[in-house]
Amino acid sequence: MAERIDLLVKGGQVVTAAHRACPVRGRTMQNLPVLEGGWVACAGGKVVAVGPEEKVREQVEITAKTEVIDAAGKVVTPGLIDPHTHLIFGGSREDEFYLRAQGADYMEIMEAGGGILSSVRATRAASLEELVETGRQRLRWMLELGVTTVECKSGYGLDLETELKQLEAVRILQREQPVELVPTFLGAHAWPPEYAGDHEGFVEFLLDTVLPAVKEQGVAEYVDVFTEKGVFSVEQSRRILQKAQELGFKLRMHADEMHSLGGAELAAELNAASADHLLMVSGQGIRALLESDVVPILLPGTAFTLRKPYAPARKMLAAGLPLALATDFNPGSCPTANLLLVMSIACLYMAMTPEEVFNAVTINAAHSLGRSQRLGSLEPGKQADLVIFAVDDYKKIPYYIGVNLAETVIKAGQVVVGN
Ligand code: NIG
Ligand code: FE
Repeated sequence: MAERIDLLVKGGQVVTAAHRACPVRGRTMQNLPVLEGGWVACAGGKVVAVGPEEKVREQVEITAKTEVIDAAGKVVTPGLIDPHTHLIFGGSREDEFYLRAQGADYMEIMEAGGGILSSVRATRAASLEELVETGRQRLRWMLELGVTTVECKSGYGLDLETELKQLEAVRILQREQPVELVPTFLGAHAWPPEYAGDHEGFVEFLLDTVLPAVKEQGVAEYVDVFTEKGVFSVEQSRRILQKAQELGFKLRMHADEMHSLGGAELAAELNAASADHLLMVSGQGIRALLESDVVPILLPGTAFTLRKPYAPARKMLAAGLPLALATDFNPGSCPTANLLLVMSIACLYMAMTPEEVFNAVTINAAHSLGRSQRLGSLEPGKQADLVIFAVDDYKKIPYYIGVNLAETVIKAGQVVVGN
C-alpha cells in the first residue's frame, strides 16, 4: 500500500548525504551522495521516499492535502547540524574583539580576568528570562541559515546556580521553538574567581556537588571540559570526565586548541563522542583518534577570529579520520552563529572540498551527537529536516561567502522558514 504523504519537495538537486556507513571517514568524505531532480516525500514528520520522480510516485500517494514545494533549480539538503556552540550567555565582548584585532592575545585577556570570566560575570547577572530571550534570537539566526539541530553548552556560570540556569534556558527553548537542542554541561570551562587560589577545591566541587546535581536535574546529555594550558590539565580533565561517565553522561572535549596537551589522546582513552578544536593536535593524537570512535569536530571560525593556525584537516583526512564542523558560536573566540560561513572558511583555509564540508555538517555532525539514526541525511525513516537553498548547485553554497541562500527550512515535516 502506497503511503499517503503530507509534504512533497520535488525536482531539486537533492544532497541526500545517505552513506552506507557512518561516520564518513577519510577519502570517503569526498563522496557526497546527490540526486539530480530528486523528489523527497514526507509523512508525519518523517522522510518516506527519496528518489527520481517515477520511483517516488510508485511508492507514495499524493493527495489534495499534500503540500507540494517546487525545488526545481534549487538545492535540497538535510537540515544542517551545528554540534558545538556556547549558545547561552549574558552580555557580549566586542571590546575584546577590537583589542585582539589590534594585536591583544586571547589567553592573555583571559589571564587578566577578561575573556570567559567577563561572560561569567554577565551570565551570573542575567535573569533566566534574559538568557531565554537572547537564546531565542540566536536560534532564529541559525534556523534562518538552515541549521535545525544545535548543541548548546553551559560553562558561563561556574557555580551550581548559574550552570543550572543556563541549562534550564536550553530546556525552556527546546519546548518553545523548532531547533532541536542538545544540552552539554561545561562546568570545567575556566577557574571561577571564588576558587582562584584553590583549583583543586573547584575540581572537587565539580565532582562532588555540581556533576551529581546536573545528573539529578536531568538537564544535560553530555559533559565537556576545556582541557588547556592554564585551564584544566589532562589529569584534572580525566577525573572530571571519568566521574561524568560513571554518572552516565556521554563526553565531549575542548582538546588541543591553543597547545598540544594530549587532549585528543584523552578523548580517545575515554571514548568521548567528540574531540573539538584540535588546532594543535599532535601526530600521536591523530593516531589515538584513529584507534577510537571519537569524531573530531573542527571549528575554523575560531582560528579565523583569533587569527591562529587552522586545524590540520587534510592531514587528519589523509590519516582516515572522520570530520565534523561546527561554529563554536560564543561571545569570545568565535562570535559567529553562521555555519554556512564556517563551511566557506573550511574550504578556503583548511582546503576541505565542498563534498567533505557537507558530509561534515550533516551525517558526521549527527553522528557526533548520537543522532545519526534519526538525523543528518535524507533517507526513508529519517526525520524530515530539510533545507532548500536558492542556488542550483551545492558547490555554490560555500562559494557565496557569508550570503544566506537558505530559502525554505523544514523541521520534522513543518515549514519553519520561508514559503
Ligand atoms: O571553544 N575554548 C574555550 N571555550 C570557547 C571560548 C569561550 C569564550 O571565549 O567565551 C571556545 O573557544
Ligand atoms: Fe567551544
